[in-house]
Amino acid sequence: FAQGFQTSYFNNFILIISFSLIKYSVLLKNCVEIINGYQPNKTLILGEICNLLRENIDYYDWVGFYFLDKNKKKLILRCFAGKPTEHVEIPVGKGICGQVAKSSKSLIIDDVSKEKNYISCDIDVKSEIVVPIFVNGENFGQIDVDSRKINAFNKNDENFLKQINELISKNLF
Ligand code: SME
Repeated sequence: FAQGFQTSYFNNFILIISFSLIKYSVLLKNCVEIINGYQPNKTLILGEICNLLRENIDYYDWVGFYFLDKNKKKLILRCFAGKPTEHVEIPVGKGICGQVAKSSKSLIIDDVSKEKNYISCDIDVKSEIVVPIFVNGENFGQIDVDSRKINAFNKNDENFLKQINELISKNLF
């Protein structure tokens, strides 16, 4: 019995991993369709990608794109899906987004209540991931995802969002 149980447990584990890989690749394909379908309207494309991710991944509660302004001193919110935020401009260095703008490195925050340099947009948010967008090797902006779940994000989300950012970088800018 123990061995049978272990096998089925293992099989379920493999099934769950396979399903989530399929889900990510379907969503990437959907992003390509959105990009091709709505060219050359960048704002519409970015907005539709936000909606797609928020509607299809249950722990993605807010999805938005911030871009660095010309003098690189602040981030400007261009598109989002989820609750409207008053933080449509974020100075470089401030909050999780501002830190990513400065360092050009992704950040995964498991528990936002433990962060000192954090800007709250919604008191229900528990965790956050921010992944930079590079255009011709330069930090150009970022995708920001908030979750009402604690510890919501891991390396798989980071890799997935990196791939979305690469699609955006290659096809829109
Ligand atoms: N929490 C972010 C601000 C953006 S909102 O999540 C939409 C931060 O600390 O930079």
